[in-house]
Amino acid sequence: MNPITKLLKDKTLHRNLCLIDGEWVDAADHNHMAVVNPFSDEKITEVPVLTAEQVDKAILSASVAFNSWKSILVTARTAYLKKWNDLILQNAEDLATIMVLEQGKPFREALSEIQYAASYIEFYAEEAKRIYGDILPSPFPDTRIFIIKQPVGVVGIITPWNFPAAMLMRKVAPALASGCTCVIKPDKKTPLTAFAMMELSIRAGIPKGVINVITGNSGEIGQAFTASSLVKKISFTGSTAVGKLLMKNAADTLTRITLELGGNAPFIVFKDANIENAVTGLMDSKFRNAGQTCVCANRVFVHSSIIKEFSINLIKEIKKLKVGNGLDDNDIGPLISQEAIEKIEHLLSDATRRGAKLLRGGKRHKLGKQFFEPTVLSGISPDMEIFSTEIFGPVVTIVSFSTTDEVIKLANDTRQGLASYFYAADMNNIWKVAEALEYGMVGINSGAISSAYIPFGGVKESGFGREGSRYGIEDYLNIKYIHLKNV
Ligand code: SIN
Repeated sequence: MNPITKLLKDKTLHRNLCLIDGEWVDAADHNHMAVVNPFSDEKITEVPVLTAEQVDKAILSASVAFNSWKSILVTARTAYLKKWNDLILQNAEDLATIMVLEQGKPFREALSEIQYAASYIEFYAEEAKRIYGDILPSPFPDTRIFIIKQPVGVVGIITPWNFPAAMLMRKVAPALASGCTCVIKPDKKTPLTAFAMMELSIRAGIPKGVINVITGNSGEIGQAFTASSLVKKISFTGSTAVGKLLMKNAADTLTRITLELGGNAPFIVFKDANIENAVTGLMDSKFRNAGQTCVCANRVFVHSSIIKEFSINLIKEIKKLKVGNGLDDNDIGPLISQEAIEKIEHLLSDATRRGAKLLRGGKRHKLGKQFFEPTVLSGISPDMEIFSTEIFGPVVTIVSFSTTDEVIKLANDTRQGLASYFYAADMNNIWKVAEALEYGMVGINSGAISSAYIPFGGVKESGFGREGSRYGIEDYLNIKYIHLKNV
């Protein structure tokens, strides 16, 4: 039996074909690619590499479905979404198991990601009812001015491997709630979670063509999205490099685009911070998904007067982390690939060569394969590559600072601007720092800030557009101004 199927209560949730116009379809030319378990390095299944014609068919199917989906009563759209949300929660354990097998994260985290993903559907099922228009005061005689909001149309959705469920639902839920239809391209490393969730969308009765899921050559699918006159918006979460390429290509068709790209989050601990809380917050932020999140603390700035106490407390907590197979009761799973491990090794060797001090870890874990030891480095400075690179692994880098102005300058010394965090007690300082940080999100005395209720997104090269909250649905809507004369 397939290694996934034997672990599932509902074996029919294991899907490895693409969803086009309500049908599960294989690659027309029988071309496939492997999905590999990052824990065992074994192939768990294969998924289709669709042909260009099949990709176009998926886009066309979403375009045809848009004509009816945009017009159905909002109560019906809400009902479909709520049913889907219920089914996802009912099948959360199976979905989490699929995610662990293809992504590697610990089961506990996978389960909480499924709940996090579902919370976007629940939120936007409600928000669909609040797509309000406006009547504006008119500067013209005998005239009324109305504003209505309409869905943009077909959305091309490209999602990453680090959160195979949450990043998907953060886009699909507001798209569907606003009346848009979509074509989804999950990351080729983690397509199975997306397929399983879409199987549940079928069971929720969401009409055919409203959601299509395709796998294949990433570059070609991105090109198909940006070149098609039927795709009216692209929403992408992934690397800054790919985001820039998509944006360049989208310029030709002026396709609207939302980009959630890489981060380089500062995590600042001021001298009046509660050190115990700051360590807990850092553990939450840094070691979630083995450090493979865009919002992970990437540079930890600690006031020089408390650096010793902070480091001792931190290492005490790190020693408690259990590393191993995500299916067992562990805190840190394997990293996604050998390249990820090699990148970390390179960053560590550059940092230590330039004077950083290794306080803990620093090498591949004895479990081998794709495991890396939870690591702490101190004495980090801006000339080291690790200071300006998104690490995407379980590595804490500590930078010492003395004044607020100095640390704000250091924290902002990056091209990224997604999440930032700081721990402090003085209210004047808190407000000053929150305003001065050049980031889309600021967590104060907290290392866990994500939710469906907040506008997630960045500034600078971390991209633009917001996901989640009432702001998130605006990205899927066009504003139309209606001018009515002779009133
Ligand atoms: C990300 O890493 O891209 C998102 C993580 C989150 O939603 O908290």
